[in-house]
Amino acid sequence: MATLEGDALVRWKAEPLRRVQVGESRAAAKHPDPDLGTALVPKGRYTSPAFMALEWERMWTKVWLLAGREEVIPEAGDWMTHSVGRENFIFARQPDGTVRGFYNVCPHRGNRVLPPDATGAAASFRCGYHHWEWDVSGRQIHIPDLETFPQLSGCSLHLKPVRVATWGGFVWFTMNPDAEPLDTYLGVIPEHLDPYRFQDMRLIDWKTIAWACNWKTSVDAFNETYHVQAIHPELLSWLDDWNVQIDCLGRHSRFIVPFTSPSPRYPDQQSLSATMRAMAELHGLDPDAFEGQPRALRLAIQKAKRARQEGSIYPYRDLSDDQLSDDYHYMIFPNVTMNIYGETMLLFVSRPHPADPNRMFFDLMNFAHLEPGQPWQLPEHQTYAHGQISLGQVLDQDAFNLPNVQDGMNSAAFEGLVLGRQELRIRHFHATLMDYIGADPED
Ligand code: FES
Ligand SMILES: [Fe+2]
Repeated sequence: MATLEGDALVRWKAEPLRRVQVGESRAAAKHPDPDLGTALVPKGRYTSPAFMALEWERMWTKVWLLAGREEVIPEAGDWMTHSVGRENFIFARQPDGTVRGFYNVCPHRGNRVLPPDATGAAASFRCGYHHWEWDVSGRQIHIPDLETFPQLSGCSLHLKPVRVATWGGFVWFTMNPDAEPLDTYLGVIPEHLDPYRFQDMRLIDWKTIAWACNWKTSVDAFNETYHVQAIHPELLSWLDDWNVQIDCLGRHSRFIVPFTSPSPRYPDQQSLSATMRAMAELHGLDPDAFEGQPRALRLAIQKAKRARQEGSIYPYRDLSDDQLSDDYHYMIFPNVTMNIYGETMLLFVSRPHPADPNRMFFDLMNFAHLEPGQPWQLPEHQTYAHGQISLGQVLDQDAFNLPNVQDGMNSAAFEGLVLGRQELRIRHFHATLMDYIGADPED
């Protein structure tokens, strides 16, 4: 594909994009960029078993993590299990409506009490090996032949709990008994994202794919738009990969990507592309009657959505104009990526492998607002091998690339990541990670 080059590209890039805030929303405000230098990021953070062990000890076991979705366990006794690295956890709805979490480990001989990465409903949890049993609050209720365990006289072995909290319709947990409360950990995230009403959305697609790369290789792939021109050139006619606002938000980060606004790299800046024409029609605008440069369609679509906000199932009324049109893309440290739009949300969780820094699990969850009375069923959740199913063209392009990146990082010829300004979120992510790890053994 031909692209703008030289002076023409520089002029386009220099033009500031109009950003609009509405009402009380402060979510669009630009945060000052931290000065994080330009140093190489050592490759061992992606390939070394020793660094992986440090990550477990100092980071994964200290932070808040996303466990799953509240609507998966709506009734008392409903449970879901969830793996992170070598650990697996049970999350169970309680009779009082709260959610509790436990290590999915039998205190007798270590068996998994429930199947990993599954969902179900139960009146109690019973280990399959010798039938020790707990109620859904994790309290031990039965041990066969208890009198043959003199060491258990007068005591009980409950399931070991983890701390659980909820936000946005999601269940979160931490293995760290001393962790700050979830809302402190999330910082400005709820203030920015509550207007989208994630808790009212429903999970409509849920998949896990085993990928042959480090979990950070996956997080990185969604933390910059620099790769769009190379990996996803078909997006350039309607997605502005250059005028992207990047914000570091404490330990988290985001970028805002203008949609229905062509990239300055796209050669035709005068007429609507086929995709832009289709997007105009989708919002009730006649592409043949549209006047102005293609990038103005973004504002026209904002207006069209604003005009339809009353009575809409979408949260348009509480969103800023930017939020009506653009991808508000957040990364909640360490491993949650949210692609947020006015109508839908696509969420990724990049989970570490139990033992291999070159492997990981990628969870994909798609959410939608339902019409009043619209029936909803929990989507089937399965784990797939890399390439076994299509995730759609764009994600397939990302997924295809990742094992090659991981292979290359393992080469003796590669020393570390050379990051540019468009990759600030990756540099900031590493700064946050190293705040947990301390001195870098790979330096
Ligand atoms: S290992 Fe669970 S009851 Fe024996
Ligand atoms: Fe991508």
